[in-house]
Amino acid sequence: MKNYLIALLAVVTFGLASCGGGDDKAADNQEATQAVEQKADEAQQQTQEADNQANDNANQEENQEAANDQAAAGGKDGKTLFMENGCVACHKETEKSVGPSLKEITAKYGEDKAKLIEFMKGNAEAIVDPAQFATMKPNLEITKKMNDADLGALADYIMSIK
Ligand code: HEC
Repeated sequence: MKNYLIALLAVVTFGLASCGGGDDKAADNQEATQAVEQKADEAQQQTQEADNQANDNANQEENQEAANDQAAAGGKDGKTLFMENGCVACHKETEKSVGPSLKEITAKYGEDKAKLIEFMKGNAEAIVDPAQFATMKPNLEITKKMNDADLGALADYIMSIK
């Protein structure tokens, strides 16, 4: 009887010990799975970045094509309009000067080109720096007289600065 008990105890102890080992294995497996998942996430992020880069390049090409089309049609590209109409006196591309930078304007308008055009037509309120609108207001007399193609080109140029 005593021997039998000892044997039983040995079996139970052995059983517990191997169970413990099993837990370790399970933990190891979990870590390995996590590592693999993390790798997969990283790979996905890299793909995403590559995609974004490709999109950026495609956008730039589109802008360039739009500018070329405009020039071919006898219209002026947005940057030229921006220079020739004196906008550049108060707006730099990336730094604030008298007026907000084009980068700041693009950040406020996001992808809403139509809204930016409405502002230049004098149909929408200032959203970038409304307190300084009085300084900008006289310039709307210039943009109000522009045709839709020129306003579109101007908006494209402003929004190309990010
Ligand atoms: C005398 C300086 C001056 C000139 C010249 C000028 N701007 Fe501005 N502009 C400003 C100031 C100041 C603001 C900030 C006030 C505001 O947000 O309307 C501004 C704001 C803007 C905004 C942002 C509008 C918004 O939603 O707030 C746009 C777009 C803009 N200007 C376009 C132009 C264009 C296009 C020209 C040329 C036709 C031009 N500006 C010429 C001073 C100027």
